[in-house]
Amino acid sequence: MAAERVIDLDIFDPDFVRDPFPVYAELRRSEPVAFSERWGGQWIPTRYADIEAIARDNDHFSSVTVSVIGPKPGDGPLFVGPPVTLDPPLHGDVRRLLLPAFSPAAIERLTPITRRIARELVAEIAERAAGTGGRCDAAEEYAQHVPVRVIAGLIGIPVEEEDRFTDWVTRILKTGATQPEVLNAAAKEVREYFTAHIDARRADPSPPDDLITYLVGAELDGAPLDQKHIIGMLYVLLLAGIDTTWSSLGASLWHLATHPADRARLVREPELLPVAIEELLRLYTPATMARIVKEEVEVGGRTLSPGERVLLPFPAANRDPELFDRPDEAVLDRPVNRHASFGLGVHRCLGSNLARMELQIGLEEWLKAFPAFRIDETRPVTWTGGQVRSVNTLPLVLGD
Ligand code: HEM
Repeated sequence: MAAERVIDLDIFDPDFVRDPFPVYAELRRSEPVAFSERWGGQWIPTRYADIEAIARDNDHFSSVTVSVIGPKPGDGPLFVGPPVTLDPPLHGDVRRLLLPAFSPAAIERLTPITRRIARELVAEIAERAAGTGGRCDAAEEYAQHVPVRVIAGLIGIPVEEEDRFTDWVTRILKTGATQPEVLNAAAKEVREYFTAHIDARRADPSPPDDLITYLVGAELDGAPLDQKHIIGMLYVLLLAGIDTTWSSLGASLWHLATHPADRARLVREPELLPVAIEELLRLYTPATMARIVKEEVEVGGRTLSPGERVLLPFPAANRDPELFDRPDEAVLDRPVNRHASFGLGVHRCLGSNLARMELQIGLEEWLKAFPAFRIDETRPVTWTGGQVRSVNTLPLVLGD
């Protein structure tokens, strides 16, 4: 790329993470397919059309690594996390294998469990808040717990070990995003953990009905899956299912704490929630993915070369005024909402219906228990960014 087109954007800069949207809007106007040399270099497209074109083009772009920074092909062994890190045609076969775990019937089974989890959490928060003048942290005490507990049940790992899973998510996706030694240590623990569970299922004459048992018995082209792939899939599901959903639930609660009219409307009109959730997913899009350029290709007038990394900043796509009227506003009843929060193309999120169910129940139960709440100005709201932008601490005061 020509040097004059290089911008200096650090996607981990705390100011950018706190509010990336003005930066994306400016880039969309001035340099819609920009290149930043930070963190080993990445192309950063910001128009919906370009992001969509890349996400749907499996001939020129590979998912062999989808991390926004870190090792690229040729730098050493890459993380294997099927189906997300596979390219077609193998990708489709592995994805099909996982579909039953996310079928409508499977989500239906998880619905009452999710409601119970949400109710238990709000009851505990109400009890604690009673002794602190209504103070709580909606990220640490609520948003970060719902998805961990739901996924643990789906995969077949003990929910009592929740703190361990949260710790892995934090070390791999947050601290580990910029500190490879932290990531590698946590990734090793996850691999060892799942190896032990897989071995236990293999040795169990009547194993429990869960995802680990299903994958241990599954076949691809008539042969059992190899251990490395089973571990990779479980790893992806654990991480993909937790961080993104807690991000979305946390950001939705942040929005409602800072926009009292929207909060009052959802309390008054809970039937609006399914549509409002789509708008909150659009406005506070959690995930930015990445691809590696396989063959030279032109995007938005720029030439991308083999081996270069290109980001898929779905948060930028979702605020493109070409596609969304009043892109920076929450229009809770937005009639048409083709948001890209769950990705676009063959890798579109497998867990989107599970995530929607968790968000619906998570918000429903919260608003029933706490129809009024606001930010506790005495403590900071903090965000983390990079691959998944999420609210880390969300101090609230419950009540009017
Ligand atoms: C609000 C919550 C969620 C968001 C915003 C989200 C976002 C995404 C995005 C953007 C992708 C596309 C990846 C790419 O193009 O490289 C994706 C893929 C995926 N997601 Fe989600 N996700 C969420 C929840 C979940 C949940 C709950 C699960 C299940 C445990 C899950 C499992 C997956 C899997 C397995 C893939 C890979 C699909 C493939 O490669 O074919 N996600 N997700």
